[in-house]
Amino acid sequence: MATLLNSHEIMSLSNPDPMMPSPFRVQRVRQETHDTFTLELQPARDGDGFSFQAGQFNMLYVFGVGEVPISISGDPTKPRMLVHTTRSVGTVTKAMRRLKRGDILGVRGPFGSHWPVELAAGKDVVIVAGGIGLAPLRPAMYQLLSHRDQYGKVVLLYGSRTPEEILFPRELERWRSQFDLEVHVTVDRAMGGWRGNVGVVTTLIQKAPFNARNTTAMVCGPEVMMRFTVMELLKRGVKTDNVHISMERNMKCAVGFCGHCQFGPVFVCKDGPVFVYSHIKDLLTKWEI
Ligand SMILES: Cc1cc2nc3c(=O)[nH]c(=O)nc-3n(C[C@H](O)[C@H](O)[C@H](O)COP(=O)(O)OP(=O)(O)OC[C@H]3O[C@@H](n4cnc5c(N)ncnc54)[C@H](O)[C@@H]3O)c2cc1C
Ligand code: FES
Repeated sequence: MATLLNSHEIMSLSNPDPMMPSPFRVQRVRQETHDTFTLELQPARDGDGFSFQAGQFNMLYVFGVGEVPISISGDPTKPRMLVHTTRSVGTVTKAMRRLKRGDILGVRGPFGSHWPVELAAGKDVVIVAGGIGLAPLRPAMYQLLSHRDQYGKVVLLYGSRTPEEILFPRELERWRSQFDLEVHVTVDRAMGGWRGNVGVVTTLIQKAPFNARNTTAMVCGPEVMMRFTVMELLKRGVKTDNVHISMERNMKCAVGFCGHCQFGPVFVCKDGPVFVYSHIKDLLTKWEI
């Protein structure tokens, strides 16, 4: 008679099936802000680490609770450690926040399209992030910095609701002190002695030092922020083919089967999450899709 395997036993079998999670062990948990945390993961069984491209995501499975899509926030040039930064908003992400060093998580991926970091060589690059949207863009920053001489100006514009919610503040400070990077941070509401910019991130775009005609833009944040950011970038003269945005939709399979992530005629899981703006601009202007 066939014996049913439990989830750990199933995952201990080597399986390249994209629907089958692989076990990863939590190496470190870092609280980033009051509701956002970073998990550093390594394969629970021997492996070569985890190769991915900047902008891709994984399906993270908390056993007995559920599975959610989360972008990879670590360095693509250092695949030995898999890094995810998550805001706890609901059932699965709150359970994920309770994980501790040594706990096991299921990982499927990497999935989806990526930021056009290599294609941007020879151009200026402007990265515009809002809130948790900095996490999916951080791998692109690492990759740009590891080949800094291949790019013109590199500009990071980041907006957060409050100073307390600024993600990766030490890293932002380090990048800001680099002579070959322009980093500008703004908050919607100043508090606690904040002396920096106040206002939404779009207010930084017109003054930012980049040559719009020869710029690749990468944008990630709440959908409303991305709509206004794109409008400002286009006003500056950035071409629609050079603007890239990362979309979010509910996901189940992550491989184009179930249709949960359908966005007009495209699937966010396999055609995205990173899209060229000119390819989806008609969809993005329809608020209900
Ligand atoms: C491609 C992709 C990449 C993503 N990358 C990241 C990432 O790097 N980090 C990250 O924190 N999240 C990321 N997300 C969003 C993340 O998948 C959701 O927050 C998660 O699925 C919520 O699951 P849950 O079970 O915790 O919440 P649920 O129980 O499903 O939702 C609980 C409540 O939270 C609300 N909610 C759900 N999602 C969000 C959201 N994104 N923002 C605000 N409220 C929400 C729901 O409307 C509901 O009211 C990504 C999503 C996609 C599609
Ligand atoms: S999540 Fe199933 S088709 Fe995209």
